Amino acid sequence: MRVAMIGTGYVGLVSGACFADFGHTVCCIDKDQTKIDGLKVGKMPIYEPGLEQLVAQNVREGRLSFAVEANEAVRNADAVFIAVGTPSRRGDGHADLSYVYAAAAEIADLMEGFTVVVTKSTVPVGTGDEIERIIRERRPDAQFAVVSNPEFLREGAAINDFKRPDRVVVGTNDDKARQVMTELYRPLNLNETLILFTSRRTSELIKYAANAFLAMKITFINEIADLCEAIDADVQQVAKGIGLDNRIGSKFLHAGPGYGGSCFPKDTLALVRTAADAGAPLQLIETTVKVNDTRKKAMAGKVADAMAGELKGKIIGVLGVTFKPNTDDMRDAPSLDIIPALQAMGATVQAFDPEGHEARQMLKDVDFKPGPYEAVEGADCVVIITEWDQFRALDLDRVKLLMNRPVIVDLRNIYRPDDMKIRGFQYTSVGRP
Ligand code: UDX
Repeated sequence: MRVAMIGTGYVGLVSGACFADFGHTVCCIDKDQTKIDGLKVGKMPIYEPGLEQLVAQNVREGRLSFAVEANEAVRNADAVFIAVGTPSRRGDGHADLSYVYAAAAEIADLMEGFTVVVTKSTVPVGTGDEIERIIRERRPDAQFAVVSNPEFLREGAAINDFKRPDRVVVGTNDDKARQVMTELYRPLNLNETLILFTSRRTSELIKYAANAFLAMKITFINEIADLCEAIDADVQQVAKGIGLDNRIGSKFLHAGPGYGGSCFPKDTLALVRTAADAGAPLQLIETTVKVNDTRKKAMAGKVADAMAGELKGKIIGVLGVTFKPNTDDMRDAPSLDIIPALQAMGATVQAFDPEGHEARQMLKDVDFKPGPYEAVEGADCVVIITEWDQFRALDLDRVKLLMNRPVIVDLRNIYRPDDMKIRGFQYTSVGRP
């Protein structure tokens, strides 16, 4: 199959590289010349484990290419994927679809022969209908089908998630498009139960409903963690105890500083808006959004409590600023709320993150250090915001010697409270005695 992938963000680049690895011929297109120039010489615009090697191999073997202009790739394509950004629209929280519709118009002008136009971007219900209208209006003669094929990959585990998904969801009523989509995903050896064919609108909603449910699950365990702190119970054991029930499941029950990232905050908000507009408000998700926002801000208070309210003039060493490990993504990262709040209470912040380059621009007056030990040196308190594996393996005796006072606030529960006590730390974590 010949594939054109419009947009080389997380989803576009990973999907493009993986489809090429499945044996298809893929051209990834992006208006950003610098990005494309970089990709052509093997420079990845994002940090994602395994991506650089996957791209290099498929380029070498002639299945993957990059271009700024969409013409040739779209003209020859069996399937054109739209994988451009759908950020929150300033002011009302709805998804901004201008990039999606611009891509649709461009595809309309270029496509030849029967073409399947696939939305991979997370788009609100009804977007497929609008794309179809745009294309039909510009090219009344064109033979095409607009399909919804949401992507469920997680950053940091993107390639594995794409190649070994729990399911593939395809929203279309068009038989020819169904065949093309089945062929595209054939290398996954999927049987009919794993490719879930639905109507386009249903498929669009599945993506939002999945993200909202997961965001709600995290928020649920975060509130249980607060309760655990109040009544001297252990949230990790509660999570284990409920997660062993198959109806609940053990995943996405890690209490922490609140969810962040490029999807959950934006998609929950967009779903709330869609539901309100449709006259079918989702009160559970509205509450999830509110509770999570409040939580991220409240985490600075947890640090203040650990310091007996004395933050003025104190040095806080922060470990991890990206929204989760194995990514350089800072979008809606809890650190963006926590660190300014600590500074507002008079603390000086020094920090280390293995990949948080972008953070240097986004976080004002933070002294970024070259390694974790430098970031804890002289600190009156160390706050762990992101659970990078290397922090689990720190020499804690060395950390204690370097710190001014051995106070640790671990917002990801990466250490054991009893062990930290023996080592002489004043240790606070989330939802544990
Ligand atoms: C998410 C969805 O998982 C994925 O299916 C979708 O395609 C995109 O959005 P991603 O944002 O990459 O993926 O990361 P994920 O691992 O889901 O984490 C999202 C946020 O939730 C992070 O801030 C993470 O720290 C937090 N989280 C996750 C928790 O606090 N606890 C958990 O148990 C799981």
